[in-house]
Amino acid sequence: MPKIKRRQFIILTAAGAMATSATSWAIGKNNKISPQTKALLSKLYKSSNGLLELDLEASSTRIDLRGKPADLLTYNGQIPAPRLEAKAGDTVRICFTNNLSQPTNLHYHGLHVTPNGNADNAFLDIPPGKNLTYEFTLPKNHPSGTFWYHPHRHEFVAEQLFGGLAGLFIIRGELDEIPEIKAAKEEFLVLQDFALDDSGQIQSPNHMAMMRGREGQLMTVNGQVNPQLAIACGGLLRLRILNASPSRFYRLALENHPFYLIATDGGAIGTPIELKELLLSPGERAEVLVRGDRESGQYRLLNLPYDRGGMNMMEMMGDGGHMMGDGMAMMQENTQTNPQVLATLTYQGSVSPLPLPQQLVSVEELPEPKTVRRIELSMEEEMTPGMGMTFTFNGKAFDPNRVDTQVQLNTVEDWELVNVDPDGMAHPFHLHVNPFQVVSRNDKPDPYRAWKDTVLVKGNETVRIRIAFRDFTGKAVYHCHILDHEDLGMMGIVEMKG
Ligand code: C2O
Ligand code: CU
Ligand code: CU
Repeated sequence: MPKIKRRQFIILTAAGAMATSATSWAIGKNNKISPQTKALLSKLYKSSNGLLELDLEASSTRIDLRGKPADLLTYNGQIPAPRLEAKAGDTVRICFTNNLSQPTNLHYHGLHVTPNGNADNAFLDIPPGKNLTYEFTLPKNHPSGTFWYHPHRHEFVAEQLFGGLAGLFIIRGELDEIPEIKAAKEEFLVLQDFALDDSGQIQSPNHMAMMRGREGQLMTVNGQVNPQLAIACGGLLRLRILNASPSRFYRLALENHPFYLIATDGGAIGTPIELKELLLSPGERAEVLVRGDRESGQYRLLNLPYDRGGMNMMEMMGDGGHMMGDGMAMMQENTQTNPQVLATLTYQGSVSPLPLPQQLVSVEELPEPKTVRRIELSMEEEMTPGMGMTFTFNGKAFDPNRVDTQVQLNTVEDWELVNVDPDGMAHPFHLHVNPFQVVSRNDKPDPYRAWKDTVLVKGNETVRIRIAFRDFTGKAVYHCHILDHEDLGMMGIVEMKG
């Protein structure tokens, strides 16, 4: 493939939109793009004059992954999907085409927009070969933050996400304007895992893998295996991290460098918090600052082992036969015992030392609510032993025609999320449209106030969340973000009434 200058490349790939490299390590100083790095440039679509408009096509695409071809599912041919950027008050118009062989739709994870019509409507069905124009407007006071988009057609979600369909949806605003944050170098890390066979085809999960939630052994950051991240000596690096894997948890640590947490799913927190490690369950995001204050060299971004429970599943399956064998192999895969390298941080150049910000944004305190609900997270064995599990909220599997929870617009509620899973598996609980704050875990107050839309509820844990239902009436869903569990029934409907 001929060498292309960066400028030409941008014109080639970004007709009608502004393109930059989301992965600055993909472009060398010499401005040349190697065929290997070309595939890694995620396109960026930015709103202008209050409008973010683009064409988006879901299709099955052969792409280059870890230097070999892989047949994945992509938006506009890219892994990860193009990054979208807008501001509060903007209108978003996405002309979407489904060129998959399955029905699909789009969900805007974490955005506070209407769940009705052609907006963040999880009930839409776009059959293969059809298009739909999504259009919605972000409220004028929408928080800035790291949001994302992915398919949400019930029963196909895990499979389509595992194919690679996920992209960032960034809302710019208040946090980006803080001088210390502005001075930091910004990088986006989209974490995706894949299970590919030798010919680059996605391996279909066995029964047991679906019960636990499918995971792949190939771990990528922005579609790359162990990419390099650069930090200047004295500089600040702002990492905006998304767990876009359907089931894999990431327990992140950067050698010799603490993280300074500045934002969670729903946007900025009050002041930076120093962390040795950062756990991101599926669907969660975090923004951290890293200080370039160590000796020049290379430091690995690691994924540390994490036990997400559910190891008794095999006994529960009541099948001593071949399933057991599969199960064993899968358990070993899932119970990683060694840290894995996700990316490598390299010192490059130097700047005069940048300070950490002292103050970020003020996070609103929600009033104590009158209404408290209890939602039990569990799974139940199906009638035929060994044939499978249904995942449930309050003992019920998802029914698109049933409203599980009715709430009054402009009220605040506490939801007690109780993990009664007999197997002790951890379930990340996610709510659409309205963000929440975590009040407590097993009655222990949460150490800091932050806006979230996905929260991990570990085995035997009760997590209390506080939700303000605002601006939009209509039906939205809440579900486990281990997407196989969602597809297998762990989803409910909340109706917001005016
Ligand atoms: Cu990211 Cu309803 O999901
Ligand atoms: Cu969502
Ligand atoms: Cu779950």
